[in-house]
Amino acid sequence: MKIAVINGSPKIKNGASENISRFMIERLGTEPEIVVCSAMSMRCEEIIGMIGGSKAIAFVFPLYVDGIPSHLLRFLVEAQAQITEAAPEATLYPIINCGFYEARQTSLAIDMMKSFCQQSGLRWGQALGIGGGGTFTASPIGRGPTRKIGKAIGLLAKNILELKTAENSLVEPDIPRFIYIFAAHLGWKTQAKKNGLKVKQLYERQ
Ligand SMILES: Cc1cc2nc3c(=O)[nH]c(=O)nc-3n(C[C@H](O)[C@H](O)[C@H](O)COP(=O)(O)O)c2cc1C
Repeated sequence: MKIAVINGSPKIKNGASENISRFMIERLGTEPEIVVCSAMSMRCEEIIGMIGGSKAIAFVFPLYVDGIPSHLLRFLVEAQAQITEAAPEATLYPIINCGFYEARQTSLAIDMMKSFCQQSGLRWGQALGIGGGGTFTASPIGRGPTRKIGKAIGLLAKNILELKTAENSLVEPDIPRFIYIFAAHLGWKTQAKKNGLKVKQLYERQ
């Protein structure tokens, strides 16, 4: 079986989406043929050429302004007419991670992907919405604050292997919301200092 993984993050290296994709590919095992594409660095025809014959297509991307990042949206619009020809009856699995703690923030983007699925004639599999994207840089997926997230990605990988359709799933980090927010503020302040800004400047209004 051939499975396509399309990374929809503008961060080609070291982004949360890349980490999620890597973890999921590990869980998919060595049996299927897996092709990995980037909607950021590859042209639509190139991706369509690579994913031809796939039985499952996983889109892994970050939430941008409650929706789909613009370059990925452009790809989806362009690919809509060609994707079913290249991968007839492929099942779609979107995996969307967001910066806010609450995974339900991804709900609109999930609906957008469902609409793409219906318009292009693909089969809907299952979406996974992941909250607390900032935790991916803190520890390897599946451990510490991302233990539950790792488990959810593992379950999704199992469903992909079986081409199953299942209820969409939302998952959040294993730390309380206030600790996540505290850590995020600490990170931003450290970054500001590293870039020559005073913390006070972060709160200045233009
Ligand atoms: C332009 C921009 C818009 C964003 N919009 C949202 C948003 O609406 N809601 C949210 O929870 N996170 C938002 N985020 C945060 C990203 O979804 C989050 O950092 C994600 O983990 C990045 O994933 P990546 O490393 O795979 O790109 C936004 C980030 C950027 C840069």
